[in-house]
Amino acid sequence: MCGIIGIVGTRSVQERLIESLKRLEYRGYDSAGVAGVVDGHVQRRRAAGKIRALEEVLAADPLSATVGIGHTRWATHGGPSTRNAHPHTAGRVTLVHNGIIENYAELREMLKAKGRTFESETDTEVIAALIDWELEGGKPPVEALKAALDQLSGAYAIGVLVDGEDNLIMGARKGSPLVVGYGEGEMFLGSDALAVGPFTSRIAYLEEGDYVAIDHAEARIFDARGQAVRREVRQVAASAALVEKGNYRHFMEKEIHDQPEGCQRTIAAYVDPLTGRAAMPGGVDFAALERIQIVGCGTAYIAGLLGKYLMEQLADLPVDVEVASEFRYRDPALRPATLAIGISQSGETADTLAALRLCKSRGMQTAVVVNAQESTMAREVDVVWPIHCGPEIGVASTKAFTAQVSVFTALAVAAARARGRIEAAEEQRLVKILLEAPRLIAESINLEDAVRAVAIEMSKARDVLFLGRGPMYPLALEGALKLKEISYIHAEGYAAGELKHGPIALVDELTPIVILAPFDSYFEKSASNMSEVMARGGQVVFITDPDGEAHAPAGARVVVTAPRCDPLIAPLVMAAPIQLLAYYVAVQKGADVDQPRNLAKSVTVE
Ligand code: G6P
Repeated sequence: MCGIIGIVGTRSVQERLIESLKRLEYRGYDSAGVAGVVDGHVQRRRAAGKIRALEEVLAADPLSATVGIGHTRWATHGGPSTRNAHPHTAGRVTLVHNGIIENYAELREMLKAKGRTFESETDTEVIAALIDWELEGGKPPVEALKAALDQLSGAYAIGVLVDGEDNLIMGARKGSPLVVGYGEGEMFLGSDALAVGPFTSRIAYLEEGDYVAIDHAEARIFDARGQAVRREVRQVAASAALVEKGNYRHFMEKEIHDQPEGCQRTIAAYVDPLTGRAAMPGGVDFAALERIQIVGCGTAYIAGLLGKYLMEQLADLPVDVEVASEFRYRDPALRPATLAIGISQSGETADTLAALRLCKSRGMQTAVVVNAQESTMAREVDVVWPIHCGPEIGVASTKAFTAQVSVFTALAVAAARARGRIEAAEEQRLVKILLEAPRLIAESINLEDAVRAVAIEMSKARDVLFLGRGPMYPLALEGALKLKEISYIHAEGYAAGELKHGPIALVDELTPIVILAPFDSYFEKSASNMSEVMARGGQVVFITDPDGEAHAPAGARVVVTAPRCDPLIAPLVMAAPIQLLAYYVAVQKGADVDQPRNLAKSVTVE
């Protein structure tokens, strides 16, 4: 949830810590802080709010250290104040933490009984106090760290400085990711490859329970039992260019525009344009499968709903989709002949990871549709189906969503063929249609000006309804989610057929109702819903295609006409208008598009 960085450098680290924290801001931005060793002693600088607030503090009071740690926070225990900002210090120990310590209250009481006092309301401070307690007992730093870790339950990735040690940062991971970066006479710790990306591309991923001590020359890594271990050092491509905004105002805007290319790269990984075949690597026997269980959170869950529509229709394969946080705790009925598919942009979302682990423990084959290929999920499952849309920085997911849906479209075609539901000729026809998606998504993005005009008006609304049938229903959910996430307007997505079972009561002249309805087999039904809404004074924004426009009942406030396409790829083509709608409403309202309040991109705690 939070982002951490550590540098054992040969030159000043202040600017590099800040550069890295900016890359990690997607993980949280409630407060930020850095600490470094200055003349043998640890000093820290902290500020509530985003990194720029910390930059102001540092401009007034620079940190002239060559060894330092940094943190950007998404608050869990204790509000987003400077006092609760990391790094936290106790005695000789100063540390940054990502995760949640579940037994912190007991540890705090135990330490208080020993005469310790606490400055903050955080769970993190007890880790610092615990390590310091062990140091006081005479243990050397790495042993003190290990002794403290053994008392913690919960999730953590930490970076630790010790007063008096000017060539050492210690780290540990359990439940939250941590990487070690290998530079030239310099070493790094970070939450992910992006964090250390500007300094090195040689990275080792720590494994569950590992702890580490880095100095200028090396990293000494130990496993949970305290045995010295080696972790493979890999060359990782985290190109700086991929995380720049270019000419766009916001990452979200850029990422919406990245979609044709992101989908093209993703589709190319799963279909062969020459043979017209769809293939899912990893050896899943779709013919033998009885069921698929999809788990995910947020937008990824919605991509899963579309996966269900596609797979049940094309491959006659029963699919259940559930939000991971429900699935993992409700004791679901699981069968071995079921493939569990997690969907996750980050590959680190705590609930999705736990849901996949549950499936694995019950003997099911597990797969993940994931963007971060080095993530915990990608490393733990049996089969990895990557999306290839590049790093997604905007908190509200856009290009990962369409890339995920692209994977499920290819998967549905591959499974349909494997299960004998379609012949080679039909597979080739569907593959050809899927290959047209990137071009049509680009055309759909060209609706930007029309959508912006709708958005200006919508920005005054208090509530917005999104309605759709068939595959447009999940997309209605996604439209509502995007709008509430970044513009803070209350929005609900509904299956249009449910209109009469509740949401119609909300319809009045002030409520915009977005109806998603391409000219498909559901069109007539959706058009009736449109009439029902208009008869009650509702202001309809009708998102359709040229044939839908021709057949729509008169009276919609606005019609946005997306390009004509085959129903197979309609969710991909219709996604851009709803993303752009949310984007421009948020811009019009002056909201912080890339970092909406209270949200974080990667939810690595429950
Ligand atoms: C957060 C993000 C969403 C994302 C969800 C799942 O809520 O704001 O954009 O869809 O997490 O994240 P994942 O990384 O698992 O796809």
